[in-house]
Amino acid sequence: MARLPDKGVNIELFAYNLIAYLQTQVPALPEHRVANIFKPLATPAAWESSLGWFVIAVTAGIFLVVGGLIVFTVFRFRRRLGDDTHQEPPQVYGSNQIEVAWTVIPILIVFILIGVTARVIASVENASPPKQELKVRVIGHQWWWEVVYPDYGVVTANEIHVPATRDGTMATYLQLQSADVIHSFWVPQLSGKTDLIPNRDNYMWIDPREPGVYLGNCAEYCGTQHANMLLRVIAQEPADFRKWIADQQKPAVQDAGAAQQQAMYRSLACVNCHTIRGTKSLGKFGPDLTHLMDRQTIGAGVLPNDAKNLRTWVNDPQDPKPGCFMPSMKLTDQELAQVVEYLQTLK
Ligand code: CUA
Repeated sequence: MARLPDKGVNIELFAYNLIAYLQTQVPALPEHRVANIFKPLATPAAWESSLGWFVIAVTAGIFLVVGGLIVFTVFRFRRRLGDDTHQEPPQVYGSNQIEVAWTVIPILIVFILIGVTARVIASVENASPPKQELKVRVIGHQWWWEVVYPDYGVVTANEIHVPATRDGTMATYLQLQSADVIHSFWVPQLSGKTDLIPNRDNYMWIDPREPGVYLGNCAEYCGTQHANMLLRVIAQEPADFRKWIADQQKPAVQDAGAAQQQAMYRSLACVNCHTIRGTKSLGKFGPDLTHLMDRQTIGAGVLPNDAKNLRTWVNDPQDPKPGCFMPSMKLTDQELAQVVEYLQTLK
């Protein structure tokens, strides 16, 4: 696997810290930051990152040559004391050799960049899958991600659990679709961006090399809450992943102690938009809530998933996420408390 050169480290760190600092200057921004795009941790991201550094090196070389010649010319041919200001400087009417050189060299450079880029794109797209692969379908919605594991009958949202292997013996293949407008799937440390386009299937693959949480974003403007269409890839050791998927396959927990709370939830319009597997709540418009409490965030990354935030969210989603398609149900305090208590049983 191609790796970043060590010499780049200081520039990377500086750029990342600068971005992170600028992000802290935006008061309303959620905790979710843009991940360090200079630290690839999967094969496609590493290939693309090497290509990025190559292009930066070539263009930096061009910048130095052109900028250097300009600076040299400005100093070498500046006006000096004793110059006759009434006389025109000597006029040069060009040189065929120089004209040919500065036409041919840029063309060669452009062809080199096209060739190298095409090679990286082709090797990412044509890479043959490792023996073990996981299929995941990701469907972009305004403004959240539906995540389907077709081989396991599991549906979740906004957080994609996948196995991580240090030797790349396992990869996750993503089928990307959209339910409404064009979105773009981007988890910088795993791969470049790929659009999710209505009535079209796009594909990409990732093979995280380290367990951990990889932050991602929607990278194509898709409406009011585009910036809050946040995404997490949670890479786990294969054994942990198998345990997670087995837990997800179970229907929702039926907590006998929360029967009243469940009845309250069932009596409300929530059931028209949300699915809780194993109950009569079968709506498809919003995120599947079967194992809601397994998720780290709510509202596609807008709030950490805890009791207080769940209450804030159910009370009026327009407050943390103005413009989102979940309305305030105008619940009384008691209704709200019971719904939140029920949701918290969905482990
Ligand atoms: Cu979805 Cu931007």
